[in-house]
Amino acid sequence: MTDSLEKIAQEVGICKKCPLFRERTNTVPGEGNPRAEILFIGEGPGKNEDEQGRPFVGQAGKFLDELIRLIGKKREDIFIANVVKCRPPGNRDPYPEEVKACWPYLKRQVKLINPKLIVTLGRHSMDRFLPGMKISQIHGQPKRREMEKMGKLIFYPIYHPAAALYNPNLRDVLINDFKRIPAVLREIDKINHSEK
Ligand code: URA
Ligand code: SF4
Repeated sequence: MTDSLEKIAQEVGICKKCPLFRERTNTVPGEGNPRAEILFIGEGPGKNEDEQGRPFVGQAGKFLDELIRLIGKKREDIFIANVVKCRPPGNRDPYPEEVKACWPYLKRQVKLINPKLIVTLGRHSMDRFLPGMKISQIHGQPKRREMEKMGKLIFYPIYHPAAALYNPNLRDVLINDFKRIPAVLREIDKINHSEK
């Protein structure tokens, strides 16, 4: 059977592959445009997301909405997913075993959406694709990587909107990095064009 985002969401909805299933209210598989040019990847659901089953609907989500508007896009244009689909209790960082257990879902989402650009939000999301890198050093720099079963992808690591909520310096950095996304997309178009 061919894979689909709906199928992934259904599987996630009944998933018990890691202990995070025990305390969740709802799973948060991710949502948005299945043909999105930009795929945003956060860390994992927080309290509000767990309650609603939707990604980035709390304070960090409001800020992310602002940022998305800043580049002339709407939520319907993009896709938002997370590294783990169930809320880590008390918003702790997900454990490596949990991240590993949930990874196949994200991999399938990336493959199906096949976005032009993957924007990783925060360190945990960056770590999945660009291991060993430091966000303070590589934020706002597009990185091209060949990934197993996902092919050639371009990543744009930026700070997590939650980290920037109460830190004016990070907030400015994040806004500046975000504003460069349209130019990064144009660069990618140029590269794709010249490689045809
Ligand atoms: N933070 C995340 O990383 N993901 C969400 O969905 C919400 C907050
Ligand atoms: Fe399954 Fe991922 Fe939820 Fe763990 S976090 S139970 S692997 S969907």
